[in-house]
Amino acid sequence: MLCIGIESSCDETALALVREGRLVDAVIASQADLHALFGGVVPELASREHFRFIGRLLDQLLERNHTDIAGVDLVCATRGPGLLGSLLVGVTFAKALALGLGRPFLGVNHLHAHLLAAGLEHELVFPALGLLVSGGHTHIYRMQSPSEFIPLGRTLDDAAGEAFDKVGKILGLPYPAGKSFDQLARMGNGDAFSLPRPYLDNDNLDFSFSGLKTAAAQLAADLRITLPAGKRTANSGITADFCASFNRAVVETIETKVRRAFVKNKDTKTLVAAGGVAANTLLRERLGDLMKQTGGQLIMPSPHFCTDNGAMIAYAGWLLGKEGFYHELSLRSIPRGEMIPDDMHCSYPISAMPS
Ligand code: KG4
Ligand code: ZN
Repeated sequence: MLCIGIESSCDETALALVREGRLVDAVIASQADLHALFGGVVPELASREHFRFIGRLLDQLLERNHTDIAGVDLVCATRGPGLLGSLLVGVTFAKALALGLGRPFLGVNHLHAHLLAAGLEHELVFPALGLLVSGGHTHIYRMQSPSEFIPLGRTLDDAAGEAFDKVGKILGLPYPAGKSFDQLARMGNGDAFSLPRPYLDNDNLDFSFSGLKTAAAQLAADLRITLPAGKRTANSGITADFCASFNRAVVETIETKVRRAFVKNKDTKTLVAAGGVAANTLLRERLGDLMKQTGGQLIMPSPHFCTDNGAMIAYAGWLLGKEGFYHELSLRSIPRGEMIPDDMHCSYPISAMPS
């Protein structure tokens, strides 16, 4: 089965082809530089840029692989959560392709796809725990199967990546700031400043990063490192120490909740971690150590599959498509903050589904 995946939920227009679970090729147009001028993604600009790029990206993908679009068996697109205008570009494009080709269409949950992307390089084992840490989301799931994700915990306010980005904005770091934090943290001392490990004094698996963000903003003001962009050299020792301390506070908070999730789900031995923040060096190290201690395994997509990409949509679509799942063309795109409905159809009787 040849599956095309289209991602347009935020500021990356990305398309990929997956055949029998293997990535054939992927193309991407990033708008990061454009939005960096505004210090964050501007939704109206994002959807215009998706619209500008999506057609040429499809041509590029097909030409480069000498693939005829008629050979595509399933057309998938991110259906949410994301920026509604941006999602509509990718979903509408995918629906038109599916209709024109007479092939099934599938709307993919962007969050699930981030986690399932690990299967492009590793064997996925179910049940597993899934940690999704991105710019808009911080979730822990119990992954029963590619189509069944049970939410165990989520952020009550800011996402982990958002905390990096917002504190980075205060420091004058380029948007998105997570990568800069990661790099600067490696040059600094994570013990230099004391910052809270928020929302741990409870029994649940939810997160809350807004208090840490406020404490970090206050500390940055006290240290006088809150100067506007361009007025300060980012690699000064104090800034590196600040970044290392903040980075460690975020990472240790996530690590604590993941450890707790395994205590509550003793039958799971695998952790799948994904999303932009899962590219973080310290987080990767800490989660690796945690899984060594618990005798389980950590599965993470490579950094280029952690950030938004088309391969994860094509691959998640392929996993679901081979089980017979598809959507009606009336499928709704789901903006951030709304629940994704469980509205997939299945063309196979359960008994005939591949295991
Ligand atoms: O998954 P993603 O590419 O986009 C979505 O939010 O869906 O994640 C982007 C987020 C941004 O907040 C960015 O600052 C953060 O991931 N990020 C990182 C790192 N690389 C990207 N955060 C910490 N360390 C990194 N190395
Ligand atoms: Zn994402």
